Amino acid sequence: MKHHVQIEVNGRPRDDWVEERELLVTYLRETLGLTGTHVGCVVGECGACSVHLDGALVKSCLVLAVQAGGRSVRTVEGLGRGGELDAVQASFVDAYGVQCGYCTPGMLLAAHALLDRNPDPDEADVRRALAGNVCMCTGYVQIVRAVLDAARRMRAPAGSERR
Ligand code: FES
Ligand code: FES
Repeated sequence: MKHHVQIEVNGRPRDDWVEERELLVTYLRETLGLTGTHVGCVVGECGACSVHLDGALVKSCLVLAVQAGGRSVRTVEGLGRGGELDAVQASFVDAYGVQCGYCTPGMLLAAHALLDRNPDPDEADVRRALAGNVCMCTGYVQIVRAVLDAARRMRAPAGSERR
């Protein structure tokens, strides 16, 4: 049985019919073509499918698409502006926080969720915020460094950012 949902995705209103047991990650990838949200474990362990739901970090393999009805979702495709990387994305590149990239969209959304609530985190804060996101190849040192660097960039007075 299908349900009608209205969901704002990356600032754009969507109007769709979804199966009652359809996962949010499936809706994002297969109906909307937003394949930057990755699928890993599908049991809430790896964080590859992380998105923001009304600004909160969630694992989209644990949310039904119908539960996102009337709410707003942000995916990795909603980061950056006009083809430019945002501060967090740029820091991941500069700090070598990306290797195969499979975990990266989820890491970026987890980092944004942290920096939205705490613009000046220390290393322990970053490690706690990323605890639900698994990376199998880059190693966490560079990823943590990238988030701390992003925080510095975002706190810098306008016009003084390196990028
Ligand atoms: S695919 Fe959702 S947490 Fe692993
Ligand atoms: S960059 Fe490969 S899993 Fe994290």
